[in-house]
Amino acid sequence: MKNVVVKTQALKKYYQTGNQTVRALDGVDFEVVEREFISIIGKSGSGKSTLLHMIGGLDTPSSGTVIVDGVNLESLNSEQLALFRRRKVGFIFQQYNLIPDLNVYDNIIFPLELDGMQIDKDFIQELLEILNISDKQEMLPAMLSGGEQQRVAIIRALATKPAIILADVN
Ligand SMILES: Nc1ncnc2c1ncn2[C@@H]1O[C@H](COP(=O)(O)OP(=O)(O)OP(=O)(O)O)[C@@H](O)[C@H]1O
Ligand SMILES: [Mg+2]
Repeated sequence: MKNVVVKTQALKKYYQTGNQTVRALDGVDFEVVEREFISIIGKSGSGKSTLLHMIGGLDTPSSGTVIVDGVNLESLNSEQLALFRRRKVGFIFQQYNLIPDLNVYDNIIFPLELDGMQIDKDFIQELLEILNISDKQEMLPAMLSGGEQQRVAIIRALATKPAIILADVN
């Protein structure tokens, strides 16, 4: 049997705005096993980004549990959670979140540098070529099209060779 890499149990996230409660997630149970590829489809506002943020440790649930690679995220302090996000998770943000003052290459290696990790230059060049953006390595994000920025965000998420990749794409 394959390892369960992501597991959520009775996961809820309610947002309180004024006197209104938005039930973005209302009891989500699901599992992802090793090497599995899952697409979550749902209409705008249905909670897809919220779910990925909970799994990636970017935000905390109202209740329920998230277990990634055998670790219950609730048991991590903020420092451990930051390490979890940097080492275990590759997150491709819906709005890309590239750093505007850094060129393409520096954006890609930024998470590695933050952590003092070895930079596998061949691997990064290979990714740049596969995603067909190697000729724009020295450009700033503002000079790129939306799709090009998204490809840079994908490479940045892959560059750390994370255990899980969460892609909040549309
Ligand atoms: N910080 C927040 N405060 C209040 N409500 C929020 C917040 N973030 C999200 N929501 C609400 O939670 C619900 C789910 O939002 P979410 O961003 O997860 O949807 P989504 O499925 O990713 O939508 P889209 O396809 O448009 O990206 C929406 O009704 C949204 O308005
Ligand atoms: Mg979204």
